[in-house]
Amino acid sequence: MPEAIFLAGDAPSVQRCARCGATSPERAVAAECADCGGLLELVHPAPDVHGAALLARFGSRCCMHPRSEASGVWRFRELVMPGAADIMSHPEGNTPLLARESVRAFAASAGLLLKHEGHNPTGSFKDRGMTVAVTQAARIGARAVACASTGNTSASLAAYAAQAGIPALVFVPRGQIALGKLSQAMAYGARTLLVDGDFDECLRLAREASRELGVYLVNSINPWRVEGQKTIVLELLQQLGWDAPDWIALPAGNLGNTAAFGKALREAHALGLIARVPRLLAVQAAGAAPFAAAFAHGFATHERVHARTIASAIRIGDPASWDRAVRAITETNGAAIAVTDEEILDAKAVIDASGVGCEPASAASVAGVRRLRAAGTIGEHERVVAVLTGHVLKDPEIVLDYHQRTEPKPARANRPVEIGAALAEVARVLNG
Ligand code: F0G
Repeated sequence: MPEAIFLAGDAPSVQRCARCGATSPERAVAAECADCGGLLELVHPAPDVHGAALLARFGSRCCMHPRSEASGVWRFRELVMPGAADIMSHPEGNTPLLARESVRAFAASAGLLLKHEGHNPTGSFKDRGMTVAVTQAARIGARAVACASTGNTSASLAAYAAQAGIPALVFVPRGQIALGKLSQAMAYGARTLLVDGDFDECLRLAREASRELGVYLVNSINPWRVEGQKTIVLELLQQLGWDAPDWIALPAGNLGNTAAFGKALREAHALGLIARVPRLLAVQAAGAAPFAAAFAHGFATHERVHARTIASAIRIGDPASWDRAVRAITETNGAAIAVTDEEILDAKAVIDASGVGCEPASAASVAGVRRLRAAGTIGEHERVVAVLTGHVLKDPEIVLDYHQRTEPKPARANRPVEIGAALAEVARVLNG
């Protein structure tokens, strides 16, 4: 196995700059490389066993107690934070892999499976990274934690910081985050800053606060977040008996998750957990798609945009994990595409009506699969897993607007009917 992927011996994990290769200890708190400002990534010691023996170990931890073993993140701790002792776990993960015929028919993808990360404790995949980042915050004795967010990260941080007893500061774009997410941040007790600016400005401010004010930054540029989010891929591979699918599709905004998926696949392949690497499909919203635009030009360009989309979770114009995500897409022979808000809302309506439900950004993954099936890039019989990143209740305003709007009435609108409190009126609706 190439040494660069894992460390030899049983030395503690190190943080390594993905740009210049400089390393720092695993407890170093800097959010970026001290030498060149590049983003950091974790490199762990190689587990004492690999291949079948490691598969058996992960398998034996499924559904076990104590608490840490019940987590779909900490079950894989050799690949997440081998040195962890006191774990800040809800628990999280162990999310279902769902098959729904109506969604398969919509996407024209017969074997499509939905990995529903909305089943995490705060309703999004962010909990997988946050359990690790807040565990790290506690073990380095952080006095406060902070993040910029389009909503889900702030909700997750608020919950885990409350559990750890560490004050949390969240920076969100004022008037631009979904109701469910804002409610969660406030309910779980985070200091909630409504910033007069977009997400990209929130992130700039949070990075400055981390540098100047000594608060520990837990955005997905934090390498521990990436380690936790890798377990979405590890867990779905485990659910498939480590028989990797042909494609894994996910919505992409700040590109932290795309980066995490790439790292998970690289490591799983190096350890002999999977025989071949699935192709990653990163799907952006058309009004916030600098990464998809760059992919179309062989990643020769790197431009930021002023982000506009109904999918507020991925309304990001200057993604922070760009280089890591380029590597993920390139190494997996993957793709990055953009879908319109209309395609996102259509896919969401189908996913919702199947009884599964998800927030708007999540539906981009299924919309993307549909697009590449129509283009023939994804074959009819290829096995595809689309990740649904957040719960349907995250953004109730979009749901109400979609189903109650009249001009024009959306294709799949399910309008509620107002009636008087009389049986005859019920019968009229039933027969009509
Ligand atoms: N889906 C949902 C529901 C999200 O909340 C996010 C990101 C993404 C997809 C995209 O993931 O940024 O790693 O490419 N939400 C962040 C937040 C930005 O602040 O909650 P990404």
